[in-house]
Amino acid sequence: MQDLQERVDELKELGLYRRMRVVGGPQGPHVTVDGRDVLLLCSNDYLGLAADHRVREAAAEAALRWGAGCGSSRLVSGNTAVHQELESELAEFKRSEAALLVGSGFLANVGVVGALARAGEVVFSDALNHASLIDGCRLARAETFVYRHCDSEHLEWGLKQAGDRGALIVTDGVFSMDGDIAPLHEIVGLARRYGARVMVDEAHGTGTIGPRGRGAVAAAGLDGQVDVIVGTLGKALGSYGAFVSCSADTAEYLINTVRTLIFSTALPPSAVAAARASLQILRSEPERVQRLADNAALLRQELRRHGQAVPDGVTPIIPLVVGDADAAMAVCEAALERELFAQAIRPPTVPEGTSRLRLTVMASHEPEELRGAAATLAGATKVGKPRQTVREGAARSETLPAA
Ligand SMILES: Cc1ncc(COP(=O)(O)O)c(C=O)c1O
Repeated sequence: MQDLQERVDELKELGLYRRMRVVGGPQGPHVTVDGRDVLLLCSNDYLGLAADHRVREAAAEAALRWGAGCGSSRLVSGNTAVHQELESELAEFKRSEAALLVGSGFLANVGVVGALARAGEVVFSDALNHASLIDGCRLARAETFVYRHCDSEHLEWGLKQAGDRGALIVTDGVFSMDGDIAPLHEIVGLARRYGARVMVDEAHGTGTIGPRGRGAVAAAGLDGQVDVIVGTLGKALGSYGAFVSCSADTAEYLINTVRTLIFSTALPPSAVAAARASLQILRSEPERVQRLADNAALLRQELRRHGQAVPDGVTPIIPLVVGDADAAMAVCEAALERELFAQAIRPPTVPEGTSRLRLTVMASHEPEELRGAAATLAGATKVGKPRQTVREGAARSETLPAA
């Protein structure tokens, strides 16, 4: 058996070694990283809600009133009125009949894919889907067909091959590492034509795009036409946890089949209460979503002005592709030296040869900070020489379903 230290050494040689940095202070435009004051440009706290005093107070009050933890899964003794209330509010927000809280986005994706795609069936998954959807496909007893990124023709080809075994199409709504948006109209049309369900992961769409931050599905005018939407509470909503929005019948089925819900402790009341407070703020202060969009547009524009190749987009996720893993790390470290923190993202999170800084803006960034960030990044990237952004499918094998 190979020594674990040898495996770690291999990762180091490949430029894929990871370590955790220590972040000080609540999420916000400025934090400390390993003791150094920096501008934060890689947080998913898109709306600046994690540190909002109303959200913090809600979390603290809930902890004092209900305790720190729920003691068991929701199907045993862990389900409380606050969980139910947040579910009703999330269903209203997403305009769905029901919403179901799950421990995290990762748990939701892994559990829901397995529940919806069964042995003998085929699940269709975009090549750049998040790791949790990939692992959901791996754990499900169904076969997986990986279609090329956002390629509806390839998806249709796979659906045809699968015949009546096609069960589920899964896609990120907003892709986490590229910030582009799935062709949801085409996907929903194909699902109807070939009799499959659709599941959209709105981890990065919830709170960031669409009318009043309702997500990519709402932005596409597809409310009520997607079978299952997964949203997270830990990104734009500034808390922790996740939810599934769907029809009442689907929710009933999921409560009975999603293993990561049934066999995992309920979300703590503090996380639930914090998400409720955030949702309330999102409702009463929709201008935050507009500010986020304005900030994203400004950073794209400023990066281009400084000669950086950034893809078009409307989401707060902006990939600055460097290419080689070591080079991406060098750019990240050079930016840190200049007091800007944007973590380098390397394989297997992104395909080989597309290592990058994944820049994310927040509604709470000041325009001046973003202008400064673009200039800083222009200096830092000289170290790693970023190349033109190239979109390539992930290097994953495609198992074609035998018809
Ligand atoms: C697209 C996507 N889905 C799901 C998740 C997992 O969500 P959570 O952090 O709540 O587990 C993430 C988090 O990185 C994500 O980017």
